Amino acid sequence: MTLMKAAVCTGYGPPEVLVMREVEKPRPRVHEVLVRIYASTVNSSDWFIRSGIPSAPIVTRVMMRLMIGVCRPRHPILGLVLAGEVVEVGAAVTRLHVGDRVVAFTKFHLGAYAEFTCLKDSSTVGLAPVGVSFDEVAAIAYGGLLALHFLRKGDVKPGLQVLLYGASGAVGTAAVQLAKHAGAEVTAVCGPHNAALVRSLGADHVLDYTTTSRPPDGARYDLVLDTVGKRQTSALRTACEHALRPGGRVVSVDDGTPQLSIADLAELTKLVEHGALKAVIDRRYPLAQLVEAHRYVELGHKKGNVVVTIAPDELVPALRAPPKALVHSGAPS
Ligand SMILES: NC(=O)c1ccc[n+]([C@@H]2O[C@H](COP(=O)([O-])OP(=O)(O)OC[C@H]3O[C@@H](n4cnc5c(N)ncnc54)[C@H](OP(=O)(O)O)[C@@H]3O)[C@@H](O)[C@H]2O)c1
Repeated sequence: MTLMKAAVCTGYGPPEVLVMREVEKPRPRVHEVLVRIYASTVNSSDWFIRSGIPSAPIVTRVMMRLMIGVCRPRHPILGLVLAGEVVEVGAAVTRLHVGDRVVAFTKFHLGAYAEFTCLKDSSTVGLAPVGVSFDEVAAIAYGGLLALHFLRKGDVKPGLQVLLYGASGAVGTAAVQLAKHAGAEVTAVCGPHNAALVRSLGADHVLDYTTTSRPPDGARYDLVLDTVGKRQTSALRTACEHALRPGGRVVSVDDGTPQLSIADLAELTKLVEHGALKAVIDRRYPLAQLVEAHRYVELGHKKGNVVVTIAPDELVPALRAPPKALVHSGAPS
């Protein structure tokens, strides 16, 4: 039996339920690929899953446990997002090849807090953007996919006035960039320490929710996109929702669970390669310090993304530097 390092979730609870273990390295079935994972992230969904969200309404908790596991996560290796390299393919796999640099959103399979995982060929895994390091690829995936989904839901178009409530987290930093790329005029709401960050991402106007209770006189929005979630609020949030133009809409990241697809990943990759979306990385932690990473993210004020590096020490510097342009498998060289 070949072993690999992984962080195993021993039950729902505080970050300390994540314990480093040596576990059996998975082997791909016919429709699966084996991925060597180089980077993952810790985002809100990761700590929600780990904690069992004790503060959520009972209906939400019951639904989540039915999906993820009643007493403990059914798949004890957590981690929703990964960037890595395909190292083995099952006999029936045609879409991906050994050596492909990939990005994946693993959904309920989870499994990214480990050195290796097997993913179905049909799962949300696709080629990573060219010229971007594994750390950056991992950092872009979660917020990028969610921002893309919810901006589409808000029907963002050139010239629209968009207010992003919560512009400095994983979803927020991606939403600022993607809304600007779509041609909107963006008003970004964040805390006192993040105004410069969100301006650097392209925000046209910035409002601090800790010192401002209403938008400027006369400001009207076509879309108010809440990227923070409904549990965090302020007087400013309510006032912004009242500043909608006729026909304008409010969309929240808490409105339903997006069904993300391979096509969404491909669109994200294209946007990154066109320079429309860049990684915002707050901190990096090695896998062995996953407990500290979860503690930090759970405070609720990370700037963009927290990356988990999963690689032998000698490889880590190389993962930080964007690799030279690579040729996608199957493409003419
Ligand atoms: N529907 C779904 O299936 C789904 C899936 C995943 C996530 N989500 C939702 O997406 C949300 C965001 O995830 P994330 O990973 O991007 O979170 P995150 O990176 O932790 O970002 C949270 C941001 O919220 C801001 N914030 C905290 N309290 C605030 C308040 N009272 N008013 C305004 N802003 C506040 C913080 O900004 P400052 O530091 O500047 O204060 C922080 O940057 C989650 O909370 C979750 O509800 C939904």
